[in-house]
Amino acid sequence: MPKKSIFDFMERKRKGEKITWLTCYDYPTAKLMDQAGLDMILVGDSVGLVVYGYPGVEPVKMDQMIYHSEAVRRGAPNVFVIGDMPFLSYHKSVEDAISNAGRFYKEAGVDAIALEGGKRIAPQIRGIVDAGMVVIGHIGFTPQSSAALGGFKTQADTAESAMVLIEDAKAVQEAGGSMLLLEAVPEEVAKIITESLRIPIIGLGAGAYCDGQVLLVADMLGITELFIAKFEKKYTNLAETMLQVFKEYIRDVREGKFPGPEHSNKMKPGEAEKLEKMLRKTR
Ligand code: KIV
Repeated sequence: MPKKSIFDFMERKRKGEKITWLTCYDYPTAKLMDQAGLDMILVGDSVGLVVYGYPGVEPVKMDQMIYHSEAVRRGAPNVFVIGDMPFLSYHKSVEDAISNAGRFYKEAGVDAIALEGGKRIAPQIRGIVDAGMVVIGHIGFTPQSSAALGGFKTQADTAESAMVLIEDAKAVQEAGGSMLLLEAVPEEVAKIITESLRIPIIGLGAGAYCDGQVLLVADMLGITELFIAKFEKKYTNLAETMLQVFKEYIRDVREGKFPGPEHSNKMKPGEAEKLEKMLRKTR
């Protein structure tokens, strides 16, 4: 299946065909997502919590995002890959934002970059877009501002705060953003934004009206013990399977059941006897 472009996603919105998106941080998982026919991958800064064990996304550095994006790009050549700009990689100035976004393109070969914020970040979105790159906005609950938002909670659940969010959504589109991720937003508000904007709106905890959905891969596979929000769907419990396999391996090695003859190599015919003779001469 050929890799889709932002124009294909616009067309999908027009036709009412849903867009599928997942987070991913590594080569083998990206390969499977490519084989499954997924539309888009976000190399999210959630890598900080899921892979590095940080308490939040704030410690994640540009270099880490580049390394993971490179691996995902290699694993999923047919999927639209988005690099997530980490905390403070785009806040200081438009120039800084452009050069960090450019690193994702030059060093990891991504198709777009994602950044958090609406109106307040519009100049950075405009700058990156004017430099020829594709920007995906992210508003609602924005993990990089978790402390300022008072921790994880649903956003825009009053009429006043919903008005602010709708203005932020419009600001992303007006600044040249090609798509918008809405996280932890009531479905009524997500519906208004989805129906009033030209660009595709992707939901994470934003209900069924959005043009597409995104989930965190570790949550959907059940390989994390981190807090899982109500809106995440755990499709399986890989942690349980992995734990069983690790325990089985430990038991097998301790009891001499692994490696068996089928996992062992042999010398060429006659060579073991020859070696034995040679060793005997040295004794
Ligand atoms: O980094 C990430 O995984 C995200 C998700 C919340 C989509 O931004």
